[in-house]
Amino acid sequence: MKQKREQWGSRWGFILAAMGSAVGLGNIWRFSYAMGEGGGSAFLIIYLLAVLLIGFPVMLIEFSIGRRTQTDAIDAFKKIAPKSGWFIAGVMGVLAAFMILSFYGVIGGWSLRYLFEYLTGGISGDSSDFFVGFIGGTFTPVLWQLLFMAMTIGIVYLGVQKGIELSSKWMMPILSFLLIALAGYSLTLGGASEAFAFMFQPEWDAFRDPQVYLSAMGQAFFTLSLGMGAMLTYSSYLDPEERLTSSAAIIIALDTLFALVSGLVIFPALFAFGLDPAEGAGLVFIVLPNIFEALGGVGTLVGLVFFVLLSMAALSSAISLLEVAVAYFIRKTNLGRKKVTLIVGLVIFALGVPSSLSQGAMDITVFGAPFLDFMDAFTGNLLLPLGGLIMVLFVGWTWTKKEILHHGDVGQQAWGPLYVFTAKFVAPVAILLVLVIGLMNW
Ligand code: PHE
Repeated sequence: MKQKREQWGSRWGFILAAMGSAVGLGNIWRFSYAMGEGGGSAFLIIYLLAVLLIGFPVMLIEFSIGRRTQTDAIDAFKKIAPKSGWFIAGVMGVLAAFMILSFYGVIGGWSLRYLFEYLTGGISGDSSDFFVGFIGGTFTPVLWQLLFMAMTIGIVYLGVQKGIELSSKWMMPILSFLLIALAGYSLTLGGASEAFAFMFQPEWDAFRDPQVYLSAMGQAFFTLSLGMGAMLTYSSYLDPEERLTSSAAIIIALDTLFALVSGLVIFPALFAFGLDPAEGAGLVFIVLPNIFEALGGVGTLVGLVFFVLLSMAALSSAISLLEVAVAYFIRKTNLGRKKVTLIVGLVIFALGVPSSLSQGAMDITVFGAPFLDFMDAFTGNLLLPLGGLIMVLFVGWTWTKKEILHHGDVGQQAWGPLYVFTAKFVAPVAILLVLVIGLMNW
């Protein structure tokens, strides 16, 4: 007999787990370097618009597909629309899970390594040399990646309630507390006003760069874990009667707040030391350690807190990426959760090794970018928006208005018609426009 499918223990368990998925390297590592490269406030404004106009409807749409079908990302589409091609969105989602987690695990490993360094006294000497030397190594970064993946596998192995839900219930409050403490400290360092200007004073020129639109929209998808079935899979463990709209609003508000406060941790410190925000992907691993060292004794503690925060945030997101693939293979095979988790997790680890090696050990590039950087941009800026586009088209154009409202839990809301209109027109047109313009300029 088939075992009963797992479910969340409570509504808050689900919200914290989904928030754990959303809040991750995307809010700290990716957000800060993307905003740094995108000219600060212009990027921020477009990103906030994308979160509101695209992120919110897409999240509700993923939730409505998941809660309605109670199954994994591929089966969900087949259940609602058998003998049609819509399940391609689910296939892309499971593929995206493999691709994103492969490089995500590498960066998670970097974060663990830094955590360990600060536990044992901090990084002394030139932090750029340290970073480049470390990630350019052959075995060391792969070992840290393996450790990070082992932790991810361990949690998913324990299941929805005992693994994902329980760990999120612990990690999310700790994360929030550490982040607020760090921001409070960073704002006292003397770079606060420059940071506020950088983040909130519009630079009109940057709005003319089509690349900024693509990267800001990609950031919205990436940071909200949208477009690849993570939110779909998590909501499939909800009771079919469970509320959705307020959960989506809470998750989005907190994820956005988290990114903004991370900005208030990183940029004031950066400006206080006269460093360049456009440093790129190495921002948190090079610039911040510089700052921690300059702070003297307390710097080691601040650095430790920061990398505990980053590692936990990464872990709670990585488990949602793994769960998308695991949920699919649990249904597809009869191996059970434990075996599936081990196998899929190790395969993803192996797929990530080229990403790790591309950072200096070997010359692995795609379109001139190191493999890891390519995977990051390709999945975030392209694959996720494309997956999200197919999902909104699926719900917006193949469901009846009544179904859209009912399964999205929007039936009782005054803004129901607005939601239907957004799902049908606003979100798809916006995603398509940004994708096309961005690709033409690439
Ligand atoms: N949202 C996560 C982050 O910000 C990354 C992620 C993307 C997780 C897609 C799941 C699915 O780091």
